Amino acid sequence: VNPFSSHLHLAHHYWKSHLKPGDQVVDATCGNGHDTLFLSRLVLENDKGLVVGLDIQEQAIKSTELLLTEKLSPELKKRVRIFQQSHEKYPPLVTERSVQLIVYNLGYLPGGNKSVTTQTFTTLESVKNYFNLLSPHGIMSITCYPGHLEGAKEEFSLLQWIAELPFRQWNVCHHRWVNRINSPSLLIIKKIY
Ligand SMILES: C[S@@+](CC[C@H](N)C(=O)[O-])C[C@H]1O[C@@H](n2cnc3c(N)ncnc32)[C@H](O)[C@@H]1O
Repeated sequence: VNPFSSHLHLAHHYWKSHLKPGDQVVDATCGNGHDTLFLSRLVLENDKGLVVGLDIQEQAIKSTELLLTEKLSPELKKRVRIFQQSHEKYPPLVTERSVQLIVYNLGYLPGGNKSVTTQTFTTLESVKNYFNLLSPHGIMSITCYPGHLEGAKEEFSLLQWIAELPFRQWNVCHHRWVNRINSPSLLIIKKIY
């Protein structure tokens, strides 16, 4: 993959190389559902695979449901479950050490209310809690947007905390554009135990 790809392109590339049909994934910020749909196409097959999506906004839940209904067959759509809840609590339906990929696309809903954005405190809480959900060799993919104030705080705090994770248990990699101020970045965290 081209190292100068956009953060979303890179994220999708990692997800694609990591997932297989039958896997379980969590989209912790489903927004308009584009990532939820992308993930559904990677893990759902006949009666296999599960995608759980969360968002706090009703508008996001509706857009995601609409997109999935439009793009997936009814059989596959049944295996994508979307819930209006905040992500610092565990999502329904999945258990500890059973999820192959957890995705966060931080910030606000594109085309929505810019004042409803992910918050540093709840994001950190969520990431810490959701580590337990990851299967051995499971991955967390976090897209950060430091171009707005809360997003900058969020990225800074995540990086500060994540830099302390024991390297025998976690692989952590941060992909960012060094000479572009405030461009989005991609944080990938892999459980290696
Ligand atoms: C950048 S958007 C996600 C875009 C999405 N990945 C897509 O493909 O359309 C971020 C979303 O996070 C949601 N969000 C904010 N705080 C949240 C929380 N505590 N729990 C769950 N979702 C939250 C927002 O409502 C917003 O829809």
